[in-house]
Amino acid sequence: MRPPTVAISSPRLSARRCTAAGSLTAFRRVTGRFGRPLVFRQLIPEPAEVDVAELLSSLDFGSRGGAERPYTVVNFISSADGRAAFQGRSGALGDEADRAVFHGLREQVDAVFVGTGTLRMEHYGRLLRKPERRSRRELAGRTPEPLACIVTRTGDVPLDAPLFSEPEQHVVVFSPMELNVARLGAQIEVVTIDPGELTLTTVLRRLRSHHGVSSLLCEGGPTVFGSLLREGLADELFLTISPKLVGGGSAPTIASGPELPELTPLHPIWLLEHSGSLYLRYAVGTMGS
Ligand SMILES: NC(=O)c1ccc[n+]([C@@H]2O[C@H](COP(=O)([O-])OP(=O)(O)OC[C@H]3O[C@@H](n4cnc5c(N)ncnc54)[C@H](OP(=O)(O)O)[C@@H]3O)[C@@H](O)[C@H]2O)c1
Repeated sequence: MRPPTVAISSPRLSARRCTAAGSLTAFRRVTGRFGRPLVFRQLIPEPAEVDVAELLSSLDFGSRGGAERPYTVVNFISSADGRAAFQGRSGALGDEADRAVFHGLREQVDAVFVGTGTLRMEHYGRLLRKPERRSRRELAGRTPEPLACIVTRTGDVPLDAPLFSEPEQHVVVFSPMELNVARLGAQIEVVTIDPGELTLTTVLRRLRSHHGVSSLLCEGGPTVFGSLLREGLADELFLTISPKLVGGGSAPTIASGPELPELTPLHPIWLLEHSGSLYLRYAVGTMGS
């Protein structure tokens, strides 16, 4: 993977003062409900007002991928008290701006990896529903929508999730056993891998070598993120800190599973603010590694 220091330069280039009403018209990619550009306050690297659409469209994750595996970024939202869900789901933690970032990131990658627990709880549907998002991807030389990537070790995949019945959605499922997907509407490929070899390292290598995936967005959940960290596969973390408290309960943090053998350092690339939510982008791991 290209060292994270390279990644730091792009948001700095993208930071733009946008106090004049007309200065954002060229960047109407990620917009609010009424078509207005979403302007975030940037605190790191330097104070500025930024159009989040411009920031996201400048990311170019694919160029940072190596020959062995895709450049892998992870996106989560957390409550201020560190929980990744409220009443079993994450949606209530976010707002319109967070959803714009969530979908904006999907626009930038070749594939989206999601755990079966999240697929089940969040009732995943088609990854990019809006025609304008798919058109922008095509203009940028990508497939109209990202490949959906699922990994199962038990075979207990929630095939009733809407994602599997979307005719235009391409899905690849890595599994130790065959799955009966013949009657489902989506375009699904099941890749069987020997259980002893079914690690996320194997899966990411396979995505790179057989599916042409240079950039991968992992949308969780915490069990999958814990595994990515333990296998040293996460390059960046996008973390939204929601200005809300869950206040107890048993919801996970953003990473679960066994504790890491040592702390993984994070290096801030940017910190943005919008409507009280904080948007952090970190490079994961030792700088220059
Ligand atoms: N706040 C956020 O941004 C956010 C994001 C995502 C999810 N969530 C929340 O997180 C919860 C679901 O997360 P979760 O941790 O239960 O499930 P998860 O991480 O979404 O999925 C875990 C499952 O992934 C499969 N898997 C296959 N290979 C794996 C590997 N090497 N390592 C880990 N998992 C592997 C396993 O499925 P099999 O059992 O099929 O083998 C495993 O049970 C929900 O409440 C959801 O709302 C929050």
